[in-house]
Amino acid sequence: MSNGSGGPAWPPRGEPAATAGPRGGERRPLVAANWKMHLVRREALAWCRAVREGLQSPAAELVVFPSFPLLPAVAEAIAGSRLSLGGQDLHPEAKGAHTGDVSGPQLRDSGCAWVLCGHSERRRDHGESDELVGRKVAAAERHGLLPVLCVGERREERQAGRTFEVLERQLRAGLTGLTGRPARLAVAYEPVWAIGTGDTATPATAQEAHAFLRRILGESAGAAAAQGTRILYGGSVTPENAAALFAQPEVDGFLVGGASLDPGKFLAIIAGCGRAG
Ligand code: PGA
Repeated sequence: MSNGSGGPAWPPRGEPAATAGPRGGERRPLVAANWKMHLVRREALAWCRAVREGLQSPAAELVVFPSFPLLPAVAEAIAGSRLSLGGQDLHPEAKGAHTGDVSGPQLRDSGCAWVLCGHSERRRDHGESDELVGRKVAAAERHGLLPVLCVGERREERQAGRTFEVLERQLRAGLTGLTGRPARLAVAYEPVWAIGTGDTATPATAQEAHAFLRRILGESAGAAAAQGTRILYGGSVTPENAAALFAQPEVDGFLVGGASLDPGKFLAIIAGCGRAG
C-alpha cells in the first residue's frame, strides 16, 4: 500500500516489518511503563538510572511513556539503552491552534518512537471517542510513530455481557485510518475495571480477550498481520501476577501503570517475560 509519497506506509520506513522474537518466532515480547501523570525530572532520571543498571539482556522490547514535559530529559537518560520512548497521547493533526495538545511531529522531535492512543483515562477524562482514537492511530502512522491502541471494557459492560461487542467496536474503529497492515501496531487490552484497582484479569480472562482481539485483527488486516501484532495486557500488572499472565499464548507483554513507577517491580516484570511462550 502507498501513502502517496512513493513508499510503503506501514510499517513506517526504516522499521522492521516483523517483530522477531521467541513467541511463535514472530512476536517479541513488549513491556511498557506508563507513568501517567507521575514523576518530576529528578525522579524520572533516578528511575532511568536504576532501570538501566538493572537490565540484563532482556528478551522483551521495552518502552517508557512519560508525561510530555519529561520527554527530552528521559530521551537523553535512556540514549544507548534498550529502552525506547513514547508519548502518552497525540493530536490527530500535525500542527495548528490546539492549546494544550501535542502533535506527532513534536513527539518524533522529542525522541519518541511510540505513542499511546485511546488509553481509557483519555477516553474517560477527555471524552475521547472511538472515532477520534482512530484518527490518532492514523496520525501516529503518518508521522512514523508506532501506536499502542488501547481497548477495554468497563465493569458494567462486562457484567452486562457486552465485553466482546465493546472490544470489537473499539478495535475496528482504532484501525480504520491505517493504510497498511498493522504488524508494527501494538494493541493493549486494558479492562477498565482492572486499571489501578488491584483487580487483575485472570490469565484465562486475558487469554480469551486477546484471542478475540487477534481474530478481529485477522478479519480486518489478514492472518499474517494479526499473527505479527503484539497484544499487551494492562491492568494492575505486578511482579506477582505477570508470569502467569505471560504464560498465556496470546499475551505478548504488558502495559504497566502503577507498578512501573518502582524500578525494581518494573525490572521484575520484564524478567518474567524472559521465558519464551
Ligand atoms: P495499572 O495501569 O497498572 O496501574 O493498573 C495500567 C494502565 O493504565 O496502563
